Amino acid sequence: MTAIADAIVSAGTYADPAAMDALFAQLRRDDPVHRVEHPEYRPFWAVTKFADIQEVERQADIFLNAPRTFLRTLAYEERARAATGGNPALLRSLVFMDAPDHARYRKLTQAWFMPGRIRVLEEEFRALANEVIDEMADRGGSCDFATEVAPYYPVRVIMRILGVPRSDEALILQLTQEIFGSDDPDVQASRTTAASLADTVKVFSDYFRDLTADRRRHPADDLATLFARAEIDGRPMADHESISYYILVATAGHDTTSSSTAGGLLALIQHPDELRRLRADPSLLPTAIDEMVRWVSPVRHFFRTATRDYDLRGRSVKAGDSLMMCYPSANRDEEIFDDPFAFRAGRPMNGHIAFGYGPHLCLGMHMARMEMRIFYEELLRRVADVGLAGDPAWLASTNVGGLKRLPIHFRMA
Ligand code: HEM
Repeated sequence: MTAIADAIVSAGTYADPAAMDALFAQLRRDDPVHRVEHPEYRPFWAVTKFADIQEVERQADIFLNAPRTFLRTLAYEERARAATGGNPALLRSLVFMDAPDHARYRKLTQAWFMPGRIRVLEEEFRALANEVIDEMADRGGSCDFATEVAPYYPVRVIMRILGVPRSDEALILQLTQEIFGSDDPDVQASRTTAASLADTVKVFSDYFRDLTADRRRHPADDLATLFARAEIDGRPMADHESISYYILVATAGHDTTSSSTAGGLLALIQHPDELRRLRADPSLLPTAIDEMVRWVSPVRHFFRTATRDYDLRGRSVKAGDSLMMCYPSANRDEEIFDDPFAFRAGRPMNGHIAFGYGPHLCLGMHMARMEMRIFYEELLRRVADVGLAGDPAWLASTNVGGLKRLPIHFRMA
C-alpha cells in the first residue's frame, strides 16, 4: 500500500479540500489512471482526468455500474453479502443497474424530471425557499448555514416531489444523512434510531412501503403515486426495487444539493468580487449555479467495472477490474478548465462533470439547477450582507461530501 492509495480511500482526505486538490493535481500530472492497492479494499484504478471519465462512462456496454458502484471496504462488502444473500449491494436502484434494466427503470421517472415538467413546480419551490430563508432570518443574524439552513430546502423539495408529509421531515433528514455521511465521526455520534447502514435501509423500507400502500388507495400528483402504479414489462415493480427507487431519489437529491448550496455560499463569501458581480447582474445566476456545483463537486466518485480488457491512457485495464471516477479531480482538470482553481460566477460554457456523464447522467440535474437558482434568487434579494463567523468544516466522506459546518453572520435587507 502506498501513501497515495491510503489518501484516495481515506474519508479524511475529502474533509480537507486543500489536501484533496493537491492529491488529485499530483495524480492528473503524474499518473492519471492510477492503480490503487490497499489491504482493506479490492484493488481498483483511480481515474482523475475529465476526458478519461467521459471515455469510460460513455461506453456503458464495456464499463458496468454493477457489481461495484461505490468504494466499500472488503469487510463492508462481506456484511452486505451476508445481509442480502449474496449481493454486495443492499439496494437495487438505477445506480446499481446496467442495460437492459437500467433504461427500463430510468424511463419510469425520466419525464418527471424534464425541464418542461418541473417548471410547474417553480412557484412551490420558491415558497419553500422563502420559508427556509424566513427561518434563517428568525435566527437573528447568525447561524450555521450548513446544518441549520442548507439541508432544509432540498429535503422539503424532495419530500414534496415524493409525497412525504412535512411531519416526517426530521426522520427523512436523519436517514439520508446516515446513509451518506456514515464515515464521519460526528454523524456516527448522532445516530439514534439506526445502529448500522442495513438498519437504516430497513427503517426507510418500512416507511416507503406504507407510503406506497397509501397512494394505491389515495393517488396524488407525486412520485409515490407513480411508483405505486409503475409496471415493468407489464408487472408491478417488485417491492425491493420500488423501495430502492424511493431511497435513491430521497438520498441522491438531498445532500448533493444541500452541499452545493452551502459550498456555493462559502465560495461567494470567499470571493466578494464575484458576489458583487452576481448582485449587480442576476442574469449570471444560472452560470453561477453551475460554477458552484463544479466548485463543490459533492459526489466524490462512482465506480465502473470493465467487461473486457481495455487500454485507458496507456494503462492496461483488465476484464473484471474496477475504476473509480474521481469527479472532483475532473472538475479541476487544467486541460479542460481555464484557471480551474478560480471561482468565477460567469464562467462561460461550464461543461463540468459533477452530474456525471453518459446513460447514468444525473436524473435530477435540471431540478437541482432550478432549485438552487430559485434559492439564490431569493437569498441574494433578501440577505443584504453575509460573512464568515468561524471556521468552516467539511464532512469526512468518500461518497457524497461537502460542508458540515459553515458559521455565518448576516443582515437581512
Ligand atoms: C447538485 C446536485 C446534484 C449532483 C452534484 C448530482 C450528481 C449525480 C451524479 C454524479 C450521478 C451519477 C452520474 C453518473 O454515473 O454518471 C447522479 C445520478 C443520479 N442523480 Fe443526481 N445529483 C444532484 C442532484 C440530484 C437531484 C436533485 C436528484 C433527484 C431529485 C438526483 C437524482 C439522481 C438519480 C436518480 C441518479 C441516478 C441516475 C442513473 O443511474 O441513471 N440528483 N447524480
